[in-house]
Amino acid sequence: MENQKWWQKSVVYQIYPRSFQDSNGDGIGDLKGITRRLPYIAELGADVIWLSPVYASPNDDNGYDISDYQAIMKEFGTMEDFDEMLEKAHELGLKIVMDLVVNHTSDEHGWFKESRKRGDNPYSDYYIWRDPKDGMKGGEPGAEPNNWGSCFGGSAWKYDEEAGQYFLHLFSKKQPDLNWDNPKVRDEVFSMMTWWLEKGVDGFRMDVISLISKPEGLPDGKAASTGFASFDLCATGPHLHEYLKEMNSRVLSKYDTITVGECPGVPMEEARNYANLDGTELNMIFQFDHMSTEYDPKVGRYGLSKISLPELKAAINKWETGLEGYAWNSLYWDNHDQPRAVSRFGNDSDEYREISAKMLGTCLHLMKGTPYVYQGEELGMTNCPWNSLDEINDIESRNNVSQNIEKGLVKEEDALEIMRRQSRDNARTPMQWDATENAGFTTGKPWLRINPNYTVINAEDEVKREDSVFAYYKKLIHLRKESDLIVYGDFEPLVPDSKEIFAYVRNLEGQKLLVVCNFSDQQVEFDIPEEFKKGERIIGNYEDIADYSLVRPYEAFALTC
Ligand code: NOJ
Repeated sequence: MENQKWWQKSVVYQIYPRSFQDSNGDGIGDLKGITRRLPYIAELGADVIWLSPVYASPNDDNGYDISDYQAIMKEFGTMEDFDEMLEKAHELGLKIVMDLVVNHTSDEHGWFKESRKRGDNPYSDYYIWRDPKDGMKGGEPGAEPNNWGSCFGGSAWKYDEEAGQYFLHLFSKKQPDLNWDNPKVRDEVFSMMTWWLEKGVDGFRMDVISLISKPEGLPDGKAASTGFASFDLCATGPHLHEYLKEMNSRVLSKYDTITVGECPGVPMEEARNYANLDGTELNMIFQFDHMSTEYDPKVGRYGLSKISLPELKAAINKWETGLEGYAWNSLYWDNHDQPRAVSRFGNDSDEYREISAKMLGTCLHLMKGTPYVYQGEELGMTNCPWNSLDEINDIESRNNVSQNIEKGLVKEEDALEIMRRQSRDNARTPMQWDATENAGFTTGKPWLRINPNYTVINAEDEVKREDSVFAYYKKLIHLRKESDLIVYGDFEPLVPDSKEIFAYVRNLEGQKLLVVCNFSDQQVEFDIPEEFKKGERIIGNYEDIADYSLVRPYEAFALTC
């Protein structure tokens, strides 16, 4: 309990600005819309807001392709709107965390436009350029420099006519990877971060930060069924910790910030370094093990496999126990890259949606780490019943699903069901504010379809209702604020093999908390540890306390002793 930090006791609320609140009727969320809704987030009790990118961008990947780090995306408003939002947030006691996307820029960024010009110029070495593996053949480029695949499908290399070389893009062709080995690139990034911190922002969520240091010589990787290697090799790059330490000493250590690194593919030992308790790198990271337990070995996330609870628990328990004493954890079920939690891990039927959304909240918010709530999760928003593939905007799911169909890895007739279950757009449908037209999100035509269930699931109703998912989340957040046991207690997993029950005990200096969650629609027997039999229930998602040894469908409760 030494060295307590404010961000260990915080709850972070993630806003996907495009889908949060439109203020000018163009169908796209914006900064003025966010400012208007800040009191809603304060009411929920979250104290930090993570804003998905709001910088200038041609929107190939909805803002994760940045063309100017110090300008605001036109559709979202102006820098004055940003300053006003920041000021209002601070007045309400809410901190603002920016999304720092510096593994790559947009190909429309000024640096890239210069970099692709032939001949040496100050930007030539800002990106990762390579000649074709076997040179040019009859005026045409030979093979790609290595077999790496892009996260959005296909090769991770694109030949650029203007440059006469290939450039690396681990994401879309419009997201060239920056060359972090170039000290000038690091200088640029660090001074841009300083500029935002001087403006008063409170920290950064760092997009795919685990990928910034590429392996020496860019060797081929083990090819997957798609014919391309994944980028695992980049996730443990040779200079990663060196660069993060440099960032820390040159920028972060000078401010009181909250930092979280998005770290796909990170092994535990690495994570312990990233988020080490001495604070020499970042405060915490997002790992992905529990986000991928159901992935199909052949098609990855865009398949139809089902989650098994023992595997999901093993993934979560591993991080809860593995970071203990070394590093701080972050807790999430949902974000803009994942399907809706209640549809994926709970049950979104009329009968069980609310109860299972509350169960998921209980399970996550009483663990050790900083919890993240993704917009609409606090309402139990669900996946969208897409009518056709044309409704999908998300570049990742569109590319991957169509390439998997072409390769015969998935059946065309399954494509829509795959999108309904897995597309990132499930999380990106506009926020459901009320039951009026377009869910109160916009007076214009929404950029992405609104989930038709907004007449039943919306903030206006839930803020008023005492038994709503919103009210329950509010209670969970409040409980954490009052309890060192919830923030700092050790985590001990129970019943790891149960296919229905997720249970654990938190322990701090003799005080104990038992958390029991039923992930199934069946009543399940559970052997409650003796010491908790006379325990006090601090929260539960069924009104009455029945027999604790028979846990009802999607029931969750927490007992202290
Ligand atoms: C992770 C972000 O969360 C995701 O939305 C984006 O597509 C990729 N990084 C590329 O920036």
